[in-house]
Amino acid sequence: MIRTTKLSLVSLGLAALLAAGSAQAAEDAHSAPKPARQAWTFAGPFGSFDQPQLQRGFQVYREVCSNCHSLQRIAFRNLAEEGGPGFSEGQVKALAAEYKVKDGPNDAGDMFERPGRASDRFPSPFANESAARAALGAVPPDFSVLAKARGYSRGFPLFLLDGLPIPGGGYQEHGVDYIYALLNGYSKDEDPNYNDYFPGHKIGMAKPIADGAVDYTDGSPKTLQQYARDVSAFMMWTAEPKLEERKKTGFRVMAFLLVLAGLLYYTKKKVWADAH
Ligand code: HEC
Repeated sequence: MIRTTKLSLVSLGLAALLAAGSAQAAEDAHSAPKPARQAWTFAGPFGSFDQPQLQRGFQVYREVCSNCHSLQRIAFRNLAEEGGPGFSEGQVKALAAEYKVKDGPNDAGDMFERPGRASDRFPSPFANESAARAALGAVPPDFSVLAKARGYSRGFPLFLLDGLPIPGGGYQEHGVDYIYALLNGYSKDEDPNYNDYFPGHKIGMAKPIADGAVDYTDGSPKTLQQYARDVSAFMMWTAEPKLEERKKTGFRVMAFLLVLAGLLYYTKKKVWADAH
């Protein structure tokens, strides 16, 4: 009797799991297609950013997206740091000075505006979320986390591989693949708020960018696809400015562990050699 109860409990559990799985699958099916996987220079254990691409992505952000999206975790000086877009200190200073930054209070107790400095963070386009909602009808999420906050699940069991540096695994670019697909996913000319890839398809951001919108000076194509690639890469950097450092450290740690394992093995052999 006890055995059968246990058994039926197990099968109940299994059935519940299966049901949950198919409910998930059904939800995926009616929401949005999976974004295609793109080739990124920063993917994989040895990946690194393409500096000119980050510079172009920043240009797209600055000229188009920054009208609505804030970039709160990035300061101007980050743009000159290693592993980033690689602007010079001089360029960063000049850039910061073009912005007005709120500071204060001064001796009279008043807030005032002054030209930006390299250490300032990017000023936000709206004073707060309510102001953004009042102006746009929806709140544009902060740019600096989007590449990590958005994504889709590859589902069990593939997502188990995503953290591993092996073929078929090591997939950590869901977020940027989604953003790239989203920017290219405005498929209905008559409805600028219809997007193939946005869950539910009705997005509060009307198609933000089209061919020719940004004037690249390095000869790269002035196409929506190129803008989408570049700005997605830039967003990956804003979400993880230390990505290159992390990958290098990870590799060193793996190499160290490998050497250590070898040493331990030979030590063990030597220590136990006379024991029998
Ligand atoms: C006119 C204002 C505006 C501009 C310009 C703009 N956005 Fe948005 N964006 C929004 C709003 C509003 C939302 C929130 C939409 C929603 O939740 O329905 C949003 C949401 C997003 C999202 C998140 C979508 C999701 O899954 O929740 C991404 C990614 C994005 N924008 C990227 C960009 C990029 C890249 C650019 C520049 C090429 C850009 N946006 C320019 C207003 C704007």
